[in-house]
Amino acid sequence: MNAVPLLQLRGLSLRLGPVWALRDLNLRLEAGERLALVGANGSGKTSLLRVLNGLRPPSAGSLSWRQPLRQAMLFQRPHLLRCSVRHNVALGLWLAGQSWRQARKRALLALERVGLAELADRRASALSGGQQQRVALARAWALEPQLLLLDEPTASLDPHAKREVEALLGQISRDATQPEPMTLVFASHNLGQVKRLASRVIYLEGGRILADLPVNDFFNDALLAGNYPEAQAFVRGEVA
Ligand SMILES: Nc1ncnc2c1ncn2[C@@H]1O[C@H](COP(=O)(O)OP(=O)(O)O)[C@@H](O)[C@H]1O
Ligand SMILES: [Mg+2]
Repeated sequence: MNAVPLLQLRGLSLRLGPVWALRDLNLRLEAGERLALVGANGSGKTSLLRVLNGLRPPSAGSLSWRQPLRQAMLFQRPHLLRCSVRHNVALGLWLAGQSWRQARKRALLALERVGLAELADRRASALSGGQQQRVALARAWALEPQLLLLDEPTASLDPHAKREVEALLGQISRDATQPEPMTLVFASHNLGQVKRLASRVIYLEGGRILADLPVNDFFNDALLAGNYPEAQAFVRGEVA
């Protein structure tokens, strides 16, 4: 096992107003893992992603990243700017310090990667929801993140677009041309998607981690029944 984990949480809790959104989380993430966060609405998935991204400081406990660490986050909705598709991707690179010329060049490569190069000069707002999410994915991927955080990235898409974005995520996370495998942490309500994409699954309830298992163990009904009854109820669709 790598001596320095990509990320480590120790006794981390997060309080949002009156609510403890995360409670006493311990988690160690190694490079190359594809971690799925599952649990009912309000269980803490978005809160955990925001903490992992550094958007929210923990209220208690600690969080450490391997340094330096390039990371990017993709939200449920793509949050594109009112300009061209290519501009949207290039801006992220320019903000990260690249020259505008270089940013525009790399933006086009990233758009080719998600199959949208021919729409590069279109207004982003004119694209379908699935295409917009692919633009957001290109924008994140162009930054060459070592850690990619995704909050229900396909939840707002129609079934066809869901499959497209999911397939891209699969390709990106297993890209053998990268010097280091990308580490993925994604929240999902779609258990099929979790099976297809994840290597490890965390089940959250009330801001606590109630199960943290390799993906095959997580979908092993007999194992869950004995040790993780809450996770089993969730997998069976018995938790709203
Ligand atoms: N800005 C906020 N202020 C207060 N409570 C919040 C805020 N955001 C989320 N919460 C609460 O934190 C808990 C976890 O929410 P969240 O992380 O969004 O869960 P999930 O993404 O799994 O649906 C919920 O009880 C939710 O109501
Ligand atoms: Mg959420």
